[in-house]
Amino acid sequence: MKNETPEAPLTAHSYDGIQEYDNPLPGWWKWIFVATIAFCPAYASYYHIGAPGRTIAEQYDAALAANTQLQFAEIGELKPDEATLVNYLHKDSWLKVGAVIFRTNCMSCHGRDGEGKVGPNLTDEFYKNVRTIEDIARIVNNGAGNGAMPAWSNRLVPNEVVLVSAYVASLRGQNLDGKGADGREIAPWPEPQEEPEEEQAATPTETTEDA
Ligand code: HEC
Repeated sequence: MKNETPEAPLTAHSYDGIQEYDNPLPGWWKWIFVATIAFCPAYASYYHIGAPGRTIAEQYDAALAANTQLQFAEIGELKPDEATLVNYLHKDSWLKVGAVIFRTNCMSCHGRDGEGKVGPNLTDEFYKNVRTIEDIARIVNNGAGNGAMPAWSNRLVPNEVVLVSAYVASLRGQNLDGKGADGREIAPWPEPQEEPEEEQAATPTETTEDA
């Protein structure tokens, strides 16, 4: 093999006549590499082994929880009763919060928009376990189908149960293509009772959807 750059020396070895230039990596490059390795234990022990709450993900979770608290402070503790559910069924900005809860926890079984997968289609007029709007919150809390539908009472706070249930109620009637009808047709949801004052107060802050 012809050496095109005679100033670069060859290494001593030769494999099947193939030879290699002796071009080591520059010293500064190697020292940066060594420095990254030296930096590792310090980084890992600060962020991963040290006190909790230092990673960006943990700070995000904490901020999210604080934000949720802040918003929930506006509405107090909601009861999963008919009046509250029907009321929140007509509060668009809170339905968006319900939608986020749904996408996080329920989408895997009920589909992104409630069209149904393992779990029933929630967008038609047919329900297996639900007769009244309160039944939605009851089933979300307690589960159904011998655990096929998990109980959420220990994983969602009461306000989240109410908001996700109102969101589920709002899906009704869209009749999205998905899982076929399960169960039987039920009576329409009741009409909301007028509560104009609460309507004003109970609007979540802007950050809701991104959270
Ligand atoms: C592990 C899968 C799974 C997840 C996750 C899940 N569900 Fe279900 N869900 C089911 C199944 C299966 C049923 C039907 C139970 C039965 O056959 O009685 C069901 C039933 C329901 C019903 C009653 C529907 C009817 O026709 O009566 C509602 C309402 C419901 N789920 C809401 C939710 C909500 C809200 C969430 C999220 C907080 C959720 N589900 C998460 C599987 C799931």
